[in-house]
Amino acid sequence: MDETPGLPFEIALEMRAHAVEAALRGLLDSRILPGEIARPERLLAAMRHGVLNGGKRLRPFLVMETAALFGVEGDAVLRVASALECVHCYSLIHDDLPAMDNDDLRRGQPTVHKAFDEATAILAGDSLLTYAFDIIADAATDLPSATKADLVLGLARAAGPGGMAGGQALDLEAERKKPGEAGIITLQAMKTGALIRFACEAGAIIANAAPDDRDRLAEFGSAVGLAFQLADDLLDLTSSPEAMGKATGKDAAAGKATLAALHGGNWARQQLHGLVEQAQSLLEPFGGRADLLKAAAVFIAERRN
Ligand code: IPE
Ligand code: IPE
Ligand code: MG
Ligand code: MG
Ligand code: MG
Repeated sequence: MDETPGLPFEIALEMRAHAVEAALRGLLDSRILPGEIARPERLLAAMRHGVLNGGKRLRPFLVMETAALFGVEGDAVLRVASALECVHCYSLIHDDLPAMDNDDLRRGQPTVHKAFDEATAILAGDSLLTYAFDIIADAATDLPSATKADLVLGLARAAGPGGMAGGQALDLEAERKKPGEAGIITLQAMKTGALIRFACEAGAIIANAAPDDRDRLAEFGSAVGLAFQLADDLLDLTSSPEAMGKATGKDAAAGKATLAALHGGNWARQQLHGLVEQAQSLLEPFGGRADLLKAAAVFIAERRN
């Protein structure tokens, strides 16, 4: 995409989302890859349902936009962005399962276990998680091997027991054993923050950026990751299923520990403001090139779905 100065964030997000959806559609077609034996049609259909059903594509946007900061665009970036979106969509499919949040609606459509069945939803999630690493490792992702290994490690750490999956475990535990504020921040940094932090770091990894720049973008990712879940929890308290495309009011009903519930809406909005300022100030060294990322921080905090 051309780095048109002043391109409004919403348009940039839409353009990036369009590109990533086309890539995902191609990756989820029925053709088998070398080494695969067959792609069961029902499983593929469930994976497509969980991936090609809308979604803001914010994590792919962050991958593509952080890579663009260093002048890197193209197919390899798109494939890494798609891989991360596969992990995110898997996390949503499993998050919605009856054993977890037990939700019927996702992105305005029936959840995967509702549209198909529970076993298929579990397997669609498993397949998307595995496929993400396939997409990065595949020769079609034209990056140096060391860069790919770095990306695989970063994504695995962000998604695994010390990241998203671990955070989901703490989130479920918190329904029974109420964590304090520090505990909530930790679980949110893991369940949501880790993938968003990786999204921002990934662009720097792809571009082989200097360690300082990579750290700075990862810190930016942590700040917007925290803001992202704070906004999600606020929206769960204040928004509607029509606006969100998913059930609301569920956190309180489940006795979920969230900062928005603990301190209230006004506090949450103030915190969001502070997190946006913190995130934006981390981008100062990049000057005007980071304008869209700065706008992304505002969008994340003020989003309505
Ligand atoms: C929802 O993520 C799950 C959380 C981490 C709170 P998004 O709000 O990014 O969901 P989609 O991808 O746009 O549907
Ligand atoms: C889930 O958080 C985060 C992950 C999927 C890892 P939530 O349970 O709050 O997400 P929503 O509200 O169902 O999208
Ligand atoms: Mg959940
Ligand atoms: Mg949920
Ligand atoms: Mg939520």
